[in-house]
Amino acid sequence: MRSRCLAKKIVASVDRADDLQAFLRDLGRDHRKFGVLADHYGAVGASLLATFAHFSGDAWTPELEADWTGAYETIASVMIAGIPNSAMIGITT
Ligand code: HEM
Repeated sequence: MRSRCLAKKIVASVDRADDLQAFLRDLGRDHRKFGVLADHYGAVGASLLATFAHFSGDAWTPELEADWTGAYETIASVMIAGIPNSAMIGITT
């Protein structure tokens, strides 16, 4: 059974990139049951980053934005790769 806690899974898999990639591909494929398609990931990523920026105030720096953008794009790209017949898309902030 797949762990429902994503953060726990990522920390546990930090030294096992293949395991984490397989988990994220399955997660992306399984998001179809929620009606989630490849071209939804950009809008969700942009909203997530805008939320972080809003609530972080002055603590939100260009470096943090770049790091979180990279992390989201990396995770989303692997999830999207798990969707049959999918194509990669980017975040537009
Ligand atoms: C990096 C991108 C994303 C990550 C890491 C992520 C992660 C997750 C995880 C771990 C779950 C729980 C899965 C389960 O219960 O089996 C979940 C559920 C869900 N996700 Fe995502 N997700 C992402 C993107 C999206 C996008 C783009 C959408 C829709 C636009 C979306 C909509 C949902 C919905 C509707 C659920 C079900 C929530 C519920 O059970 O009430 N997710 N997501």
